[in-house]
Amino acid sequence: MDSQPTPITVPAFQSRKDSQQRITMLTAYDFPTAQLLDQAGVDCLLVGDSLGMVVQGKTSTVPVTLDEIIYHAEMVVRGAQRAMVLVDMPFLTYQVSVQAAIENAGRILKETGCAAVKLEGSAAQADTIRALVTAGIPVMAHVGLRPQSVNQTGYKVQRDRDQLVQDAHAAEDAGAFSVLIECVPSDIAAEITRQLRVPTIGIGAGPDCDGQVLVTPDLLGITCGYVPRFVKRYADLGSQIRGAVTSYVDDVRNGSFPANEQSYQ
Ligand code: KIV
Repeated sequence: MDSQPTPITVPAFQSRKDSQQRITMLTAYDFPTAQLLDQAGVDCLLVGDSLGMVVQGKTSTVPVTLDEIIYHAEMVVRGAQRAMVLVDMPFLTYQVSVQAAIENAGRILKETGCAAVKLEGSAAQADTIRALVTAGIPVMAHVGLRPQSVNQTGYKVQRDRDQLVQDAHAAEDAGAFSVLIECVPSDIAAEITRQLRVPTIGIGAGPDCDGQVLVTPDLLGITCGYVPRFVKRYADLGSQIRGAVTSYVDDVRNGSFPANEQSYQ
């Protein structure tokens, strides 16, 4: 009989850093993808608010709602046996007040069964992180390029070393169990990774972070249009899907599907 895999937990993140083992993380938004990524050995599945762009086809992450992220996170949790599931707090679900942040993060944990939440946190979010952690809600802080602030910053590499180091330390001091660093020069991310006790997860932040994350449809070659420089395409599933569906359309049109094998006698 197959033995059940040991689930990855929040404390396991710290053990990974302490034992210099890199952490692997990918985004997931549905049950079958979560199952596949989990079976492939990914440590952490992020139900990212990139949902808005790569699933919903919107132009930014800003419109994603709490109910939408909860709906997708429930499916991902059902598909993950070993991987830890982490869920993004959407725009304006944690910035309005500390009390609202606790209520909304609490809903995410209670209704989905995920292990932790992520929020886009500059030093200004420290009180919120501290309150969530005090309430028993593990938090990953997201520094560097913060897509929920795209209307202020645009999508560009963040180079303010002092601000980035200060944001990362503020998150750690407030109790964040990990800090995600997005679109930051490699040397700044390496410096933050050296200085912090908690693990860093990089996306567009060079090779020296304690772990890496990518948006899964980017890695699989499903997303169309602009692909950031930090993405490595490991497959071209977009072409494969188009090819398979074109064959299906042809087969139906020319009468070769369904054949006898797919029909009941
Ligand atoms: O929403 C998301 O997918 C993210 C990425 C940075 C991984 O936060």
